[in-house]
Amino acid sequence: MQIVVAGSGGVGKSSITIQWLQQRFLTDYDPTIEDKYRKKVFVDGSMEAIEVIDTAGQNNYLTNRERAFRSGDGFLLVFSLTSKESLKEVCDIYKNIVRLRDRDDLPMVLVCNKRDLIEERQVSDEELQKLTEELRLPLLECSAMEHEHARVAFSNIIRFIRNF
Ligand code: GTP
Ligand code: MG
Repeated sequence: MQIVVAGSGGVGKSSITIQWLQQRFLTDYDPTIEDKYRKKVFVDGSMEAIEVIDTAGQNNYLTNRERAFRSGDGFLLVFSLTSKESLKEVCDIYKNIVRLRDRDDLPMVLVCNKRDLIEERQVSDEELQKLTEELRLPLLECSAMEHEHARVAFSNIIRFIRNF
């Protein structure tokens, strides 16, 4: 199954992906063009061959990104609690995927990242609630510093795809 990690630039897509795959936190920011990874994992007792596509958040690589939006079996839609703008952009990405695939019931999980940066938080609980009601998607809070958070995010989308 193919999992696509999407969201605007710098929100932590690569950090969450690498934390899940390699159990380490990426401290430096190196904007992604597009990275693909393969991994076999056990989820709920059965094995799954996963391909992760870590997409570009910066808008220079829209062709690659659209290709991934067309092919993904499921999506982690990432935004950052430290950026209101990234919340708006994640809604636009959601709408873009729905438009490209012509359906709104695809497996998707919202991931609000950087929850460790409490002082820099710009997004309120009310805004999060509004977002989940609007898009009708599950929402997970995450810090890419925590392996457990990354594991939970990927396990959730894997289950969602399996049950789809
Ligand atoms: P693009 O590839 O440009 O789309 O960005 P990205 O979404 O992949 O962001 P990336 O994972 O490269 O993270 C950007 C910066 O934010 C890096 O310096 C990370 O260390 C930092 N970062 C990512 N997630 C977290 C987090 O949960 N907490 C904190 N404190 N920093 C984070
Ligand atoms: Mg990246």
